[in-house]
Amino acid sequence: MFLLHIFTILATLLGCSFGLSEIIVNAKPLDHCTRALSDAQTIANRLQSHYFNATSGQFNDGELWTDANTLEDLHNLMLATENNLFGTVADNSYLGKAALNSSTDWSSFIDGSYDDAQWCILALWKIADYKAARGQDNTPYMVSVCICGGGVWWSSAKSYKNAITNELFLLTSASGYLRTRDQNYLDNANKEWAWLINSGMRNSDGLYNDGLNSTDPAACTNNGQTTWTYNQGVVASGLAALSAANGDTSLLDQAEITLDATISRLTVNSILKESCDNVNAATCDHDQQIFKGIWTKHLQYYLDNANDVKITAKYSSFLGSQHSAVINNAKNSNNDISFLPTPDYKGSVWYAPSARGSIWSPESSASGLAACIADAKYGQC
Ligand SMILES: *[C@@H]1O[C@H](CO)[C@@H](O)[C@H](O)[C@H]1NC(C)=O
Ligand SMILES: *[C@@H]1O[C@H](CO)[C@@H](O)[C@H](O)[C@H]1NC(C)=O
Ligand SMILES: *[C@@H]1O[C@H](CO)[C@@H](O)[C@H](O)[C@H]1NC(C)=O
Repeated sequence: MFLLHIFTILATLLGCSFGLSEIIVNAKPLDHCTRALSDAQTIANRLQSHYFNATSGQFNDGELWTDANTLEDLHNLMLATENNLFGTVADNSYLGKAALNSSTDWSSFIDGSYDDAQWCILALWKIADYKAARGQDNTPYMVSVCICGGGVWWSSAKSYKNAITNELFLLTSASGYLRTRDQNYLDNANKEWAWLINSGMRNSDGLYNDGLNSTDPAACTNNGQTTWTYNQGVVASGLAALSAANGDTSLLDQAEITLDATISRLTVNSILKESCDNVNAATCDHDQQIFKGIWTKHLQYYLDNANDVKITAKYSSFLGSQHSAVINNAKNSNNDISFLPTPDYKGSVWYAPSARGSIWSPESSASGLAACIADAKYGQC
């Protein structure tokens, strides 16, 4: 019954010509995007029933920032399905309880991690979107960002300037402006991009390395460290948000330099491959297990703000391939992109069938979930 409910909604959303009765009578095969949304729901149900700890409000085996991404994914999913299956999760989560508590000391909550702070903001704002869409009060979730101007430090230790923290600051500033029209946000977004594009963190391939040489941060030299997939997605969603804010579409060209470099350089057979992904040896850590899904989620957000059918068409089939790879190579028979013991040894690796090199965790499930949601929204339907 639930699946039929999704079909009806999607038929409406996608402008498909068939109605509920036709589905029942003709048993038409699922169209691509309906299948993607149904796969996303299946994975999310299992992720939630298996990993969410109602006592702690956290995901067992998760971390603050990956939990924030997972909460964001669940709300992104409910906004797509229009159901409320996880409607009480936010208020009962560790992050949501902090947002609802006016005495929360956010600086001790984030413990000096400026990247984690912004992942939390993105989750809180997505929850706020969901609550607004359901006519609920979302004010406790509209927490504002307060870090500083361009060239943000990774942490309060002020020893490293890295790509992800600055890309997130671009995104939260530009997106903060789109939400509030507060000029301070837009000023910060413009300053951040002016700094980032001149920082040397984007290499000659068009990919962002991890950060700047920390021996002499003022010198702005690329440290040549790993080009993680998520770095290549978050910068694009930040640029599209800034483009939507200031009307400068050349920012989209900048974003696509990096998106296209991801597709050409960080894939095997057109499927994202984290540098640590290995079908034979489990070497990605918990952080790294969620990166590919973050890339797909931020491509979704990029397409939201680029708002251009030609650009969407350019990336649709790639999103479809990631969804298929997640289902074929990563999701196991328990619907986890995770979970041990399993007879089929699947998990975090998408690019090829695993030979026990995949890793099972709430992070790898959230990662696959995000890929399915992005395909449901922008795949070829
Ligand atoms: C759930 O969280 C509680 C409180 O932090 C903890 O005591 C318990 O061990 C957790 N459950 C699992 C299965 O880890
Ligand atoms: C709210 O936060 C304060 C400060 O951290 C804490 O002492 C208090 O227990 C929290 N209240 C609830 C209901 O969690
Ligand atoms: C970082 O900067 C120091 C000091 O300028 C230099 O000796 C070192 O080679 C640089 N490292 C990299 C990876 O560029």
